[in-house]
Amino acid sequence: MTTILPHGGLLINRLVPDADKAITLDQAAKLIQIRVNTWNISDLDLIGVGAFSPLTGFLEEKDYASVVEHMRLADGTVWSIPITLPVKPELAATLRIGEQIALVGEEDNVVYAIMDVTSIYTVNQQNEAVKVFKTDDTAHPGVDKLYSRPSTNVGGPIQLLNRPKPKKFEEFYFDPSETRRIFAENGWKTVVGFQTRNPVHRAHEYIQKCAMEIVDALFLNPLVGETKSDDISADVRMKSYLVLLENYYPKDRTFLGVYPAAMRYAGPREAILHAIVRRNYGCTHFIVGRDHAGVGDYYGTYEAQEIFSNFTSEEIGITPLFFEHSFFCTKCGNMASSKTCPHDKSAHMHLSGTKVRGLLRNGQCPPPEFTRPEVAQVLIEGLRDPEYQV
Ligand code: ADX
Repeated sequence: MTTILPHGGLLINRLVPDADKAITLDQAAKLIQIRVNTWNISDLDLIGVGAFSPLTGFLEEKDYASVVEHMRLADGTVWSIPITLPVKPELAATLRIGEQIALVGEEDNVVYAIMDVTSIYTVNQQNEAVKVFKTDDTAHPGVDKLYSRPSTNVGGPIQLLNRPKPKKFEEFYFDPSETRRIFAENGWKTVVGFQTRNPVHRAHEYIQKCAMEIVDALFLNPLVGETKSDDISADVRMKSYLVLLENYYPKDRTFLGVYPAAMRYAGPREAILHAIVRRNYGCTHFIVGRDHAGVGDYYGTYEAQEIFSNFTSEEIGITPLFFEHSFFCTKCGNMASSKTCPHDKSAHMHLSGTKVRGLLRNGQCPPPEFTRPEVAQVLIEGLRDPEYQV
């Protein structure tokens, strides 16, 4: 059984027990209602089920300031990305510290949570952008998102009343308490977590399988929350993961479950968050490859690995496994990296994301050294599907 403790020592559970739900919903109906969007709801859910342990709610001012400046909560616990609830200033001005508010879905009117307001504060978004994303360039999708939100935040502990309903692939949604139980039932002592927002190409497969040689199992944990519009949709990706696992992975040592979070594209800082969350899901190891959670040229190829040296291994708790940029080498006849391949770059296959998307759009399979043909087929069909959002 995995013995790894959740980050902060305890798996947070902020779900209102079924027996108390009716009374809490009644209580919520009498409170000021704040509208929350899909992103906020995803954060609420991840807090509620403990994926964001030790957070019990949206960050208060002292924690926010400490996370932005020092990558730690005010009590020193490592935390790299602010998880905040921005509220329009005119609305925030009507709230009082100590009162409770109801967080209600802006599209569906569902009361998702009750929150104790313990902090109301205005932030310097440019400072947050530069510290968290290492840029204030609005062409960066994370910065753009940050600047589109109000700069006043409301912080405090939450109680989760309702869960967002997955539209598809519901059977691949597991809470941290469930993945922990499943890993234990399988007798897996060591589990490596893999974050991805892409189809699994051969380079991903290679680093996963290198890791699988030294641990008991792989937890393939694709992020399926909000991503930027030119990333491949989560539905198409899920289909591609299933066909890949079916054909190329050992069933008794591989487990697929989604990570229903929004992508921040914060590179190094997001790698820390991704590792901590996978620890909460029960993973003992976590893969960090080239330009993890990066976008454009904002981060150095290995910055998301280097950032881990700011912390002790006890502070992070989960063991990061770092991988060099991997590729297919035509001379080795194998997947490799600069650590294992002596050949010249001309023997290495490199395909940019843009090139691959271009091939797929024309109905052409990228070479099998880049993507398994079964995966390419799913992606081609996905791109043809009128429902596919590009
Ligand atoms: S991410 O934004 O979710 O990190 P992606 O899905 O491309 O993007 O990457 C998933 C993981 O695989 C990350 O840890 C990333 O660093 C790693 N990775 C992606 N491509 C390569 C590659 N060619 N060589 C080594 N690692 C890679």
